[in-house]
Amino acid sequence: MTNGADPFDFASLIVAHDEANAFEAVVPPIVQTSLFTFGSYDEMVAAYRGEIVRPIYTRGLNPTVRAFEEMLAKLEGGEDALGFASGMAAISSTVLSFVEPGDRIVAVRHCYPDAFRLFGTHLKRMKIEVTYVDGRDEEAVAKALPGAKLLYLESPTSWVMEAHDVGALAALAKRHGVVSVIDNSWASPIFQRPLTLGVDLVLHSASKYLGGHSDVVAGIVTGSKELVGRIRAEAYPYLGGKLSPFDAWLLIRGLRTLPIRMKAHEAAGLEIARRLQALDVVETVCHPALANRLPPGLNGTSGLFSFIFREGVDIRAFADRLKLFKLGVSWGGHESLIVPGEVVLEQKAQPNSAHAFGIHARSVRLHIGLEGTEALWSDLETAISAATEA
Ligand SMILES: Cc1ncc(COP(=O)(O)O)c(C=O)c1O
Repeated sequence: MTNGADPFDFASLIVAHDEANAFEAVVPPIVQTSLFTFGSYDEMVAAYRGEIVRPIYTRGLNPTVRAFEEMLAKLEGGEDALGFASGMAAISSTVLSFVEPGDRIVAVRHCYPDAFRLFGTHLKRMKIEVTYVDGRDEEAVAKALPGAKLLYLESPTSWVMEAHDVGALAALAKRHGVVSVIDNSWASPIFQRPLTLGVDLVLHSASKYLGGHSDVVAGIVTGSKELVGRIRAEAYPYLGGKLSPFDAWLLIRGLRTLPIRMKAHEAAGLEIARRLQALDVVETVCHPALANRLPPGLNGTSGLFSFIFREGVDIRAFADRLKLFKLGVSWGGHESLIVPGEVVLEQKAQPNSAHAFGIHARSVRLHIGLEGTEALWSDLETAISAATEA
């Protein structure tokens, strides 16, 4: 590696690697190594002094991971990015980089349950307080912000799909000198680019749409060099939840088809949401495009939404009759999935009751995959008939 290179100039790293292999491969190599050796004492000491920048140890810098970070930063409009071993590692490392004991966070209600639980356990032990707000109520958010350190956003929210005017919330945070961060896993950068709306940091569970094939658990955060640098300086190396080279390679593959996958999830999701809404046995469909006009900055919808059955529907029979839709957590892959709300409400072992997330007992969360609208609708119709026959 050359003297004085941009510390995170992946192009120079990967070109050097490709030249060494001379394969002219169209896909970047998986640099599956834990460490990188030095040619001499002088080179090693220069790297330790920071006079040359080159990979030393994969927890700090790995070319394949860096390639994914740079691609995602470009997609979101960030200056820099950091890849993590999971979405939760991205969330915990980001949040912990901006708070100290005695601080306060403002978070949108109904955020991803494990983020909520992180706030209610570790952060609580660190004497960090969290004020929950309805992100649609900008007055309430403005009232909660003075004195806070961080505004934690997710839009639309995990189960009930409350969608917010992200740009307006980011502007409120700026006015009060509060760092804003958003979980953008649902929309992906194809449908929402929060950095361009004024949000400071954007994070993802890359296990969802970025990966898109249900074969990787990963996370990423992107934003300005300065703010990402704060996370890199402490939480990233010391908490150590680093993305692995192989997972980064899978994510690079995922990013290449993200735009066409998102359009397919959107079209099928919207059509199925509309058909469900027209059924007598369905009370409500929680899909941002059906509830209202989409808020400014949200330019499309993904395949994840929920609906509430009317009383009397046998949800167990519905779930067991489905063939194409599988019962399973997570989402964002090629496959269609359901999670019944009443099952989530059984999760008694977890700290903080699931009731906090706005989950209705008669609700079902759907992820609409890529199997095709008509085949999926036929599966749903058959299962709904089975559940309402009695
Ligand atoms: C909205 C959202 N954010 C974050 C996460 C956590 O990501 P991971 O499972 O990759 O840790 C999830 C996982 O389901 C999620 O749904």
